[in-house]
Amino acid sequence: MKKINVAIDGPAGAGKSSIAKLTASELGYIYVDTGALYRTIALYMLENHIENENDIVAALGQCKVSLRYADGQQRVFLADRDVSEDIRKPEVSMAASKVSAIPQVRSHLLSLQKEMAEENNVIMDGRDIGTVVLPNADVKIFLTASPQERANRRYKELSLKENCPTYEQILNDIIERDKNDMNRSVAPLKQADDAVLVDTTSLDLQQSAAKIREIIASKIGGTR
Ligand code: DC
Repeated sequence: MKKINVAIDGPAGAGKSSIAKLTASELGYIYVDTGALYRTIALYMLENHIENENDIVAALGQCKVSLRYADGQQRVFLADRDVSEDIRKPEVSMAASKVSAIPQVRSHLLSLQKEMAEENNVIMDGRDIGTVVLPNADVKIFLTASPQERANRRYKELSLKENCPTYEQILNDIIERDKNDMNRSVAPLKQADDAVLVDTTSLDLQQSAAKIREIIASKIGGTR
């Protein structure tokens, strides 16, 4: 039977992953966080001090990225190493934004994403899911929020940890990443023509998730 594919795109910090995770678990779908794939490649390049584009492309063959699921939670692997935590460091975020602009990096990850969606009912989040990876997705959502609100949320999340950057640093990072992600020539961050726009600036997680559920139900006729 054809699988149901829900694509959620949008800028960093719009709430994609929290909302997608919650909704996927409610619907019994698999949540695929595609940013984790780009982050894993970025981590490999950072750890091996590979910086220039030609070297990055040449090293892609050694970069074996895979996804596994334990209790419905996505874990991302670099060969046999679980890197799910290591890829969350702030330096990896910026590096991921940079490596993701390289066309060969994107094509290296494309078949993995398409296979996940062919074999499972998925909610997949990223930047180009509705435009490039799953152009025929059953539901497409473009999730956004103001840069200030996104920085606020990230600050609240990071302030619980050690070495928290300042709000201004986080806001600047968000603005720079948006710029990189929207202006690259391959698969830039943009709303697909047939995506529904949801602005979460004044919505909390529950309200945002309710909105997403409503959109999914209206497109696929309830929770199949
Ligand atoms: O969603 P995230 O913040 O974990 O993504 C990290 C970076 O990866 C992001 O700045 C851009 C890139 N990315 C992408 O280019 N395409 C995707 N589908 C997902 C992420």
